[in-house]
Amino acid sequence: MALYSEKVMDHFRHPRNVGSIENADGVGEVGNAKCGDIMKMYLKIDGDIISDVKFETFGCGSAIASSSMATEMIKGKPLSEALQLTNKAVAEALDGLPVHKLHCSVLAEEAIKSAIQNYYENKK
Ligand code: FES
Repeated sequence: MALYSEKVMDHFRHPRNVGSIENADGVGEVGNAKCGDIMKMYLKIDGDIISDVKFETFGCGSAIASSSMATEMIKGKPLSEALQLTNKAVAEALDGLPVHKLHCSVLAEEAIKSAIQNYYENKK
């Protein structure tokens, strides 16, 4: 069996929502202490809805695929739903990740949560 699913390879080769958003409403940056990889997430928010999302990563292929999938999963969704997105759900949507690569999908989940938190802080 191949180490990576076709979906992982597809999102790795053709990542969706890569880049940054000028004047983003929320920005989150997180890192993984073990591998040293970094993930940055930008959100544009209209009312309660994530109208746009982009990511930049200095991370491995699994981190790229996870973020690509995660951004697709939260785009157009309410913040409350995005906050509930787990790395497990992202990994499942990718038809699985190797166990030693699951932490890469955590980066995507944490970056989204951090960007939403940043949005709420900016609003205060
Ligand atoms: Fe660091 Fe995948 S090895 S995010």
